[in-house]
Amino acid sequence: MIRSIIEQRVSRAVLEILPDVAVDQVKVRPCPNPKFGDYQTNALMAIAKRSGTNPRDLATRVRDSLDVSDICESVEIAGAGFLNFRISGDCVRRLLRECLEGTHLFVAVPVTPLKVVLDFSSPNVAKSMHVGHIRSTILGDCLARVYRFSGHQVITDNHIGDWGTQFGKLLYGWKHHLDEKAFSENPITELERLYKQVNDASEADEILLEACRSELVRLQQGDPENLRIWNAMIEISKQQFDTIYQRLGVHFDHTLGESAYNDALPGVVSDLLEKGIASESDGATVVFFEDVKELKDHPAMIRKSDGGFNYATTDLATIDYRLREFDPDVVIYVTDGRQQLHFKQIFEIFRRWKGDSRTKLEHVWFGAILGDDGRPFKTRSGGTIKLADLLDEAEERALAVVREKNPDMQWEMQKEIARCIGIGAVKYADLLPNRNSDYRFSWDRMLSLQGNTAVYLLYANTRINSIIRKAGDYSPTDVTFETLEDPAEWALARRLMNFGFILEAVLEESRPNYLCNYLYELASDIAAFYDQCPVLTAGGQNRTDRLGLCQCAGRVLAKGLELLGIETVEKM
Ligand code: ARG
Repeated sequence: MIRSIIEQRVSRAVLEILPDVAVDQVKVRPCPNPKFGDYQTNALMAIAKRSGTNPRDLATRVRDSLDVSDICESVEIAGAGFLNFRISGDCVRRLLRECLEGTHLFVAVPVTPLKVVLDFSSPNVAKSMHVGHIRSTILGDCLARVYRFSGHQVITDNHIGDWGTQFGKLLYGWKHHLDEKAFSENPITELERLYKQVNDASEADEILLEACRSELVRLQQGDPENLRIWNAMIEISKQQFDTIYQRLGVHFDHTLGESAYNDALPGVVSDLLEKGIASESDGATVVFFEDVKELKDHPAMIRKSDGGFNYATTDLATIDYRLREFDPDVVIYVTDGRQQLHFKQIFEIFRRWKGDSRTKLEHVWFGAILGDDGRPFKTRSGGTIKLADLLDEAEERALAVVREKNPDMQWEMQKEIARCIGIGAVKYADLLPNRNSDYRFSWDRMLSLQGNTAVYLLYANTRINSIIRKAGDYSPTDVTFETLEDPAEWALARRLMNFGFILEAVLEESRPNYLCNYLYELASDIAAFYDQCPVLTAGGQNRTDRLGLCQCAGRVLAKGLELLGIETVEKM
């Protein structure tokens, strides 16, 4: 919040000197090296270059006309024209006191809140959710949390795959090969078996393939029997999804699957034809991108020659619906990196189709999860790993650790703590790497108490809470922060001030890993602070102020974990 105030004042000062310059490029960031200050901007150099002035001169003039005396103890010019700001002790103390009073958590309310549609998780019906879905679910949920907490309006929509050619085979399988007993024991496994059986058999059997196609056509024409079976498959899948979402603490405002757009598809295609965006090609309807380098060789088909529509058509209809229904500032899609081409095509068609729309579209993609050996993450027998099994294993492994550390703890409590640690560890391991790279899944690493893990952060959280609990007669109203003195205290206080900036950075690039790393650094600052500054055994105002600092740090840490979707525990 302090950062954005400085940013505004620098922009204003620049405008006074150069009234015609575009100041939206003025960015103030935390100083990479705290030796030079708390915040820094390099914007003046670019502005000077564009307006033909000397950068150091401009920096001097900006500094002279800038009034930040209520916030900063110094503003220094460095290098070719950097401005470095050091926040005054008074300002830091004031912010800490406000935090303690519950006014803020060092996060500014946005000037203009955005309306954001988040399309994430989106698994396919009649299949088990597998590890591939975890990244979309967890990343999407974290972004939704950070957007909401930062004051934006969020609409989450689970675009489940509940329509498409696979239903021809599933319907055929259901009608001819359904094993009632297996189905009642494990419906999804039975649906997967049916699909595989029919799919394998139809590879060399044209007649069977034709039979599947006609089941599909009957479904699309609204045949009551096929609709009934299709609905049953969706119901069962949704129950499975909901169990997983409940375990992960993930919630959706809408679950508008692909089928919701079925009736709109012909209209989308004819509209694109009418506007000259799509054209007929060999009986199919296609959009060509001759003038877009990376898409030149990848035309998008929006209607197949047999009249069927596809994934792209549905996504276009979905955009149209979201624009009308929600009028969002941005729609964010969280999927696997393998869908990059698909979204590039969709975004390009959108640009041509609804170029005057204010809505921005953003594809937030992620890499694969690899096994500890760096190869694709599979079960021992080479199958895909089901998400439910993965979460079970996480909880079991965490339980073993909890029991070893707390053999006398009540069983129910051990289990509850293990649940939070297990699920939290999986989530954290998923959010910590740069989302664009593949990452190696390692149980040992993610459940370790050392290093950048959920376990380490959860432990830091319990420790800080236990200090506050033990403090006895401490009262936050007695805290003044006047006794803060030790470098470790200041380092921690200054880290807290950056919480808001980190959340902005998370949203700017849709990268929760920034928040993970921030919390890890925060936890390390807290540890260094304990090391240097006794809290409970300190005396007088020192003790009170340090407890106040612990409380602020505890709140930021707990909020950070909550934004990652990680449940905290009282004890470990
Ligand atoms: N169901 C798709 C899949 O599992 C993901 C859908 C993503 N969202 C979208 N609007 N296309 O690959």
